[in-house]
Amino acid sequence: MTTIAAASLVVCFLVALSQTASLEPPQQSPTWPPTFSVGFQEEQHVSVIPLSRNAGAWYYDFANRRARFDHSHGQYDSFCQRVGLSPKDKHGDCQLFFSSLGMHVHYPREQICCRACGAEEGCTVLMPTWLTGATYMGTETIGGLTCQGWVKPGAVATDRWYQTADGKPCQYWEKVTAFVPHVIHVITFNVSSYQLGPIPASVFDVPKYCNVTCPKPYHPPHGVQGSP
Ligand SMILES: *[C@@H]1O[C@H](CO)[C@@H](O)[C@H](O)[C@H]1NC(C)=O
Ligand SMILES: *[C@@H]1O[C@H](CO)[C@@H](O)[C@H](O)[C@H]1NC(C)=O
Repeated sequence: MTTIAAASLVVCFLVALSQTASLEPPQQSPTWPPTFSVGFQEEQHVSVIPLSRNAGAWYYDFANRRARFDHSHGQYDSFCQRVGLSPKDKHGDCQLFFSSLGMHVHYPREQICCRACGAEEGCTVLMPTWLTGATYMGTETIGGLTCQGWVKPGAVATDRWYQTADGKPCQYWEKVTAFVPHVIHVITFNVSSYQLGPIPASVFDVPKYCNVTCPKPYHPPHGVQGSP
């Protein structure tokens, strides 16, 4: 009995030691840089069943209150799919523009576009501080890199964000809990494509033919803010 107690004490001590050694929680949740761009691979799963896999890119320019999120061929992006546009290929290249005018959904190959929502619906550029209040989860190896993870539960989805110790994005992970079965959405960034600093303004030019309201404009669930 004494031996078991002593042994379990030793185990506890070792566990405590290893936790101290491996988890040095960063003092606070990360803040995104005001301007960056990065390429990625994106996947969605319903439970364990794969739904989609495609490439994409983010152009984030909070400094100028604008962003463009590209979801390439094969995408099942919910904004691209649900605003009522009727491209020949619903899963073709699709771009989301965020600006002071709201959010526009654009299929560049077919040159069709519409305005899905505005600031009233919360369709503004995501704040660099969106991870405020997130909980540190420790490190995980993603694409061969050691990445620090944070988790932030929300009303309709739980978000996870992983980045390297020097602030390069590794992965964005989202589990949409508003619907059953839950959809898991994973964006794994190509760290070697990550760039800080100015992005050409033309990247954010919304085409002239985006001057129409979407057939099915986006209405967020009450009190819910946008996410990537
Ligand atoms: C990652 O980005 C680099 C630099 O832009 C590019 O050369 C490479 O092809 C990309 N890798 C993948 C898998 O897309
Ligand atoms: C939208 O712009 C096009 C030109 O690109 C113009 O022909 C059309 O009348 C405009 N529609 C509206 C509703 O303003």
